[in-house]
Amino acid sequence: MTKPHALVTGGASGIGRAITRRLAADGFHVVVVDLNEPLAAEAVAEVAAAGGSAESRILDITDEAGVEALIGALPPLAALVNNAGIFKDQPFAAASAADFRRTYEVNVVAPFLLARAAVARMGEGGRIVNIASRAYLGAKNQIDYVASKGAVVSFTRALAMEVIGRGIAVNAVAPGLIDTPILRALTPERLKAQLALQPTGAAGRPEDIAHAVSFLASPATCFITGQVLFVDGGKSLGGSAV
Ligand SMILES: NC(=O)c1ccc[n+]([C@@H]2O[C@H](COP(=O)([O-])OP(=O)(O)OC[C@H]3O[C@@H](n4cnc5c(N)ncnc54)[C@H](O)[C@@H]3O)[C@@H](O)[C@H]2O)c1
Repeated sequence: MTKPHALVTGGASGIGRAITRRLAADGFHVVVVDLNEPLAAEAVAEVAAAGGSAESRILDITDEAGVEALIGALPPLAALVNNAGIFKDQPFAAASAADFRRTYEVNVVAPFLLARAAVARMGEGGRIVNIASRAYLGAKNQIDYVASKGAVVSFTRALAMEVIGRGIAVNAVAPGLIDTPILRALTPERLKAQLALQPTGAAGRPEDIAHAVSFLASPATCFITGQVLFVDGGKSLGGSAV
């Protein structure tokens, strides 16, 4: 029997890699969509070595025609995980309009393109999980990123309402600080300061996010839609843990 297909953007690295492993272990055939060819091949090999099934497609997810062609050539997706995202750490005054536009293209417009193409063919029980960030509540030095992740949350809610009548659920996961290569965008001093703000005193693991995505991508999770699940070691609680 053909396995249900799950597409994971940014599935080659960090959180996306852990989501790929987890969804493959859950029984999905995972389509890893990424810019990084060697890492995507590694992710597919890792899944195969664990007895799962995956393939990779190299694509810039901001390429509208490329997204339409890719999704049109796949069987209807059981799950779409909009995980790929970019992040720059810089003071507000240094942020350019070009930075802002590129962050929106990758973090907001691309998930829209993927969701539009996927929903057109998705059957009842389809699942969309968007990776937002705890930072959408507010963070310094990341104005374009924070604004883009706020948009991801609003997009999740709006899309959930659009597709609820078709039995498709759309939710978001808002990770806190997670130990992945994206943190290289922070200077060692900024990373230390971020870690000091963690109620648990440490960053989370990509597997913590993959666990939440597995839950929301499951056909068994059928009465939850338009929600944001914080996976952030309590940081969104806003208080001091000391
Ligand atoms: N790591 C954290 O602390 C953290 C916290 C909150 C939210 N997030 C979010 O989690 C998601 C994954 O982040 P990560 O930490 O694993 O990052 P990462 O940099 O390790 O991985 C991101 C992946 O996305 C791919 N990618 C980037 N732009 C792309 C494009 N245009 N087309 C196709 N692929 C593209 C990259 O090649 C990379 O493989 C992002 O949306 C990020 O904003 C991360």
